[in-house]
Amino acid sequence: MSDKPRVYANRRLPEAVTERLQHGYTATINEADRGLSDDELLAAAAGQDALIVTPPDKMPAALIDRLPDSVKAIACFSVGTNHVDLEAAKRRGIAVFNTPGVLTDATAEIAMLLILGACRRAWEGQTMLRARRWDGWKPTQLIGLELTGRRLGIVGMGRIGQAVAKRAKAFGMKVHYHNRSQLPAEQEGAAVYHETLETLLPEADVLSLHCPATPETRSLLDEHAIAKLPRPSVVVNTSRGDVVDDGALISALQDGRVAAAGLDVFAGEPDIDAGYYELDNAYLLPHLGSATVETRNAMGFKCLDNLDALFAGATPPDRVV
Ligand code: DGY
Repeated sequence: MSDKPRVYANRRLPEAVTERLQHGYTATINEADRGLSDDELLAAAAGQDALIVTPPDKMPAALIDRLPDSVKAIACFSVGTNHVDLEAAKRRGIAVFNTPGVLTDATAEIAMLLILGACRRAWEGQTMLRARRWDGWKPTQLIGLELTGRRLGIVGMGRIGQAVAKRAKAFGMKVHYHNRSQLPAEQEGAAVYHETLETLLPEADVLSLHCPATPETRSLLDEHAIAKLPRPSVVVNTSRGDVVDDGALISALQDGRVAAAGLDVFAGEPDIDAGYYELDNAYLLPHLGSATVETRNAMGFKCLDNLDALFAGATPPDRVV
């Protein structure tokens, strides 16, 4: 039997990542590429030294408590770690890693796609065309909101928020942001800092969410927050679905209090609130933020860099627990 550490990946991985995984480890991969029940995951984890897990696959305390003792690490194939109960992992002495830094550009690109798609009514245009309902150019057809001169309100000015700010400026947007602390002037550029969300909201013609999902940010965009947005306003989310109160956003999109939304992430993915499907002014994507060849490879390599370090007795660079 090989003396390489044993790693179980709970989803299929990009080809280049799989090759490296199989080269360095005794690897087992969930080739079915579907979510596993807790019992299936526990059976698959038996005898494994580490697991590679993805955001849709929840690892609550009750599951982590039952992991076999052989499991020394959980490598999250994501920058977000909200699907893993970190406290439970800590209690069990299981290291947890994530993939910071490598998703920045890909996610910022998707945020721009959502801003453009929502503001310029791309879904409605696409649907009209494909349904063969387009009867020609008209001065009043599918009039959207121009980005140039509009104010972009960014919630969470970490790497991704800053990358979106940079791109939005190139589109002529004025950037406002709320963050736990103000950025140093050289990082901030001409962006306007808001110490509180309350003062940011009225300035956000387009509100783009980039904060992590924590108990504090849960339903951060609720009915009260929505009421403070200017009219018209557009809401964009590439962070996590849990930061939005879906009922409140759907009702605001229905009655026009929010003109449009661009959403890549949803609470309860993939079983999203069905209300979104009924809305022409919701531009929806299935969590594609990091879905580029470059980024998915980089995420996988980060998982492996961390595992390599752990099994070599070195300090894993992205250890969160
Ligand atoms: C992450 O890494 O947290 C992303 O949401 C995956 O695209």
